[in-house]
Amino acid sequence: MDGNGRWAKKRGLPRTFGHKEGAAVFRKIGDYCRKLGIRYVTFYAFSTENWKRPADEVAALMDLFDSYLDDVERYAGRNTRIVFLGSKAPFRQSIRDKMLKLEENTRHCDGMTLMLAMNYGGRDDIVHAAKQAAELAAGGFIKPEDITEEMLSGMLYTGDAPDVDLVIRPSGEYRLSNFLIWQCAYAEYYFSDVLWPDFKASDLDKALAEYAERNRRFGGV
Ligand code: IPE
Ligand code: MG
Repeated sequence: MDGNGRWAKKRGLPRTFGHKEGAAVFRKIGDYCRKLGIRYVTFYAFSTENWKRPADEVAALMDLFDSYLDDVERYAGRNTRIVFLGSKAPFRQSIRDKMLKLEENTRHCDGMTLMLAMNYGGRDDIVHAAKQAAELAAGGFIKPEDITEEMLSGMLYTGDAPDVDLVIRPSGEYRLSNFLIWQCAYAEYYFSDVLWPDFKASDLDKALAEYAERNRRFGGV
C-alpha cells in the first residue's frame, strides 16, 4: 500500500493524513476482494524496515493501527480469517492484544483469508522459518536432510496459504521491498502509477484483467 506520503504531500498535508486515507482505501479494497470471491489477499501495511522512519511518523502509524484494528474486527462476522504476518513482539501491548484476539476469533473462518503484513520482511520470514527447522533438528525431531521446500513453506508466517499469484505494486515504484520473497517465486507482478490512497476497485479490476491475460508456465513450456 505505497504512496500515502506522496499523496498527502501533493495536497500540502502532513504524511499522516495520507496514511489515514490509505487505511480507508484498505477497507474498501479488502471488502471488494471479499465480494469478488478472492480466497487469499495480503496487504503490506508496515515493513521491518519502516521502523527507521521518523519517530513521529512511526508513532502516528501505531496509533492508526491501534484504532484501525478495532475496525478489522467486523471481518469476523464475514467469514474472513485474519492472519498477521511478522513478529508481533515490537508492537505495543494494546496492538498485540488486538492482533491475537482477531486471529483467535477468526481462526475458523474459511471464506477469505486476509493477511496483514505488519512488521513484515521477507528475509525475516525466512530466518524465522529456518530457526524453527533448526530447533527441530537440534531437538532430534528431524534430520537436516529431511528439510524440504514444503516444510519450510509451512513454517513461514503465511503457513498453509498457497504461493502468491499476483502482486500489485502501486505508486510507480518497481521493486519488491522485501515482500513475500519466498512465496512470490512465480508470482506475476502488476505495477501501477496510482498512489495507494487513490486506488479504486476499478484499478483492481484492471490488474486482474491483465493477470488473466498472462501465460503462466512456472518454468515449464
Ligand atoms: C506506504 O506509504 C505506507 C507505509 C509504509 C505505512 P508511504 O508512507 O511509503 O508513502 P510514500 O512512498 O512516502 O509516498
Ligand atoms: Mg513508500
